[in-house]
Amino acid sequence: MISKNLKKTFYPPIVSVNEQILELKQKGFEIINMGQAVVNLNPPQNFIETLNKFYQDKRMHYYSPDIGYPFFRENLLHFLNKHFNSNIKNIDNLLITAGANQGVSTLLMTILEPEDEVIIPAPYYFNHIMAVDMLGAKNIIINTKIKNNFQLKLEDIEKYYSPKTKAIILVTPNNPTGLTYNKKETEKIIQFCEEKNILLIFDETYNLIFFNEKQSFIDKFKNNGNIAIVGSFSKSFAIAGWRIGYILLPDYLIKDYIKVQDTFIISPSSPAQLFLNEYLEKSEEYLININTVLKNRANLLYNNLNKKEQTIFPEGGCFLWYKLPNTNKTSAELAFSLLEKYKVAVIPGEVFGNSYKNYWRISFGSVDEDDIKLGAEIINNFFDLY
Ligand SMILES: Cc1ncc(COP(=O)(O)O)c(C=O)c1O
Repeated sequence: MISKNLKKTFYPPIVSVNEQILELKQKGFEIINMGQAVVNLNPPQNFIETLNKFYQDKRMHYYSPDIGYPFFRENLLHFLNKHFNSNIKNIDNLLITAGANQGVSTLLMTILEPEDEVIIPAPYYFNHIMAVDMLGAKNIIINTKIKNNFQLKLEDIEKYYSPKTKAIILVTPNNPTGLTYNKKETEKIIQFCEEKNILLIFDETYNLIFFNEKQSFIDKFKNNGNIAIVGSFSKSFAIAGWRIGYILLPDYLIKDYIKVQDTFIISPSSPAQLFLNEYLEKSEEYLININTVLKNRANLLYNNLNKKEQTIFPEGGCFLWYKLPNTNKTSAELAFSLLEKYKVAVIPGEVFGNSYKNYWRISFGSVDEDDIKLGAEIINNFFDLY
């Protein structure tokens, strides 16, 4: 009954951890949940007021156009150009999605055929791997290393490139490392993709959460180029449940992408579009605050963990890619035992790639400061036993 391609892929790792957490909660345990990369801060204050204001407005309750309301896309394009120093002129290239995952998977469905290859650096974001698997295409995984700051080099790509390479997916700021891709090296990759006619997909879910310098490749987008960029409001506006994001697509992909988007979601959330349309221009202070809170949390977690000589402080996102002290156990075994015995949830490194059995991704987006300190203390004590 189940599709062969779907069987090739795995059960969503976050769902597995959340199921384990739920089971413990049902037994009455309290959990410090440093698992899922969610931001537990409040959405902007006037969210509900704005929704109330639009209650009588039919646009809030009906489908929007498949690719979002044109007035919102206009506003969003202006917002992106301002934030990322880009100069994209035509709103036709900017489409609204039901979040970054839907944007990436819809795009992959638009371009991939069975046997096509997609190059994905590891540690990777598992949903990309799952989407490629489900479509019967092939993930070509390139492991990046801590000694190179998890950077990807053009020469790595050249080694793995084949005439079947259809796309490359880069996540920046990266999930799970929290690091960004080096601009100079990535420029070379952009050039290579142009020469070889490969679609370079940037997943920039975290482009508005940064701890030093803002980083995005939106300024490299061209309406006739080989770059597609996916963004999201899930984390930066703490509205993951409203399912809203966007995708920048070159001209030649738009019509076919819309076929897939229409089939799966018809249109993205209308309330979220109306809210953001009112709010984007006034969001500066909110974004500064969310970045300050997350950076403080990142510092707190990093400073309170003892054994972290090989852990790199993140540049963005809401998690720390923690290099584990040496033990003879895998990160999944250790994470399982931490949760079962000490009720702290983290995500084991191997769900981001087989070579990362000595890492955990520890989220600081989903826990308040007291729990960060407590979680770090429990983790320290846990490793003292090894
Ligand atoms: C790299 C990356 N892409 C996409 C997503 C999903 O984002 P959205 O809620 O916008 O679908 C996440 C969420 O954790 C992510 O980390």
